[in-house]
Amino acid sequence: MNLYVNQTKDSLESPYLPIPGVVERVVRVTEKERLFTISPLNPSLLEYQPGQFYMIGLPGYGEAPISITSAPGAEREFELCVRAAGNVTNALHRLKRGDFVWVRGPFGTSFPIGEMKGKDIVFIAGGIGIVPMRSLIKAVLRESRDFGKLTLIYGSKSPEEMLFSEELDEWRSKGLDIELTIDKPDPKWQGNVGVVTTLIPKLGVRQGETFAVVIGPPVMYKFVILSLRDKLIGPEKIFVSLERRMKCGIGKCGHCQINGCYVCQEGPVFKLSDLKDMPEAI
Ligand SMILES: Cc1cc2nc3c(=O)[nH]c(=O)nc-3n(C[C@H](O)[C@H](O)[C@H](O)COP(=O)(O)OP(=O)(O)OC[C@H]3O[C@@H](n4cnc5c(N)ncnc54)[C@H](O)[C@@H]3O)c2cc1C
Ligand code: FES
Repeated sequence: MNLYVNQTKDSLESPYLPIPGVVERVVRVTEKERLFTISPLNPSLLEYQPGQFYMIGLPGYGEAPISITSAPGAEREFELCVRAAGNVTNALHRLKRGDFVWVRGPFGTSFPIGEMKGKDIVFIAGGIGIVPMRSLIKAVLRESRDFGKLTLIYGSKSPEEMLFSEELDEWRSKGLDIELTIDKPDPKWQGNVGVVTTLIPKLGVRQGETFAVVIGPPVMYKFVILSLRDKLIGPEKIFVSLERRMKCGIGKCGHCQINGCYVCQEGPVFKLSDLKDMPEAI
């Protein structure tokens, strides 16, 4: 145990040194995603905001950037939802209760919840984009009286790939309107079929009083932003979260760089108007 105490003390002084976290629970969410509840051995790791990410490491496998999916404010634990994509993420899927992960962070920018107070918010998530969005939604729903109308548009490829569907009723009961869609017709699905942009024209938007938050696969952004423009939601009222390859998470390695911008530090959350000189970003 002393090893961990020393590790934790040193880690607080260096962003390169990870802090151990104990896996408290692992829940299978879909065939590809698992939800991990982790309690870090140092509670300073819990000082995060929606939109931020950790570098999650396993000795012998490496590290991967993973968004925080729980709302901030918990005393002991945070949650991550991980899709098995390769080396590190498959190894994470093999972890069981009581195992350790190694955590650096929290890193990156967060959604400016204060700026959106008093306004309507449209959350638009595609696929695994719902993972960081869940942290934001939960934080906003805690104070839903401070906001106007809250709407989630969430699209996935199929009903089986829809994440957190068992939480949607609770979110509705707290004041979130939810519109769901899947990409292609499915006999098990009664709702909307088509990509998320098919639901945007139906949105009632209060001009100048509505923010949009968009998180999804790269292909989604351009089309969603065009549809939001038709609804007169301008780039100064749109927040996006960009996913880039990341290695260090702290602006040293250049893997995440778009021109002179380090997405790990200046992002992953950006106001769209701040990306106007970086057409490669979207
Ligand atoms: C800020 C940020 C937040 C993220 N949040 C989450 C999350 O909450 N949950 C989650 O499951 N995943 C998340 N990811 C993606 C996750 O980091 C990658 O899937 C992971 O790094 C893959 O590592 P690996 O070692 O398992 O796979 P590897 O063996 O490295 O690669 C597997 C495949 O994934 C590709 N790949 C690796 N990194 C990325 C990337 N960033 N974008 C696209 N393709 C990639 C590789 O080229 C390869 O084809 C996030 C990424 C970023 C940058
Ligand atoms: S991940 Fe290394 S500079 Fe951003």
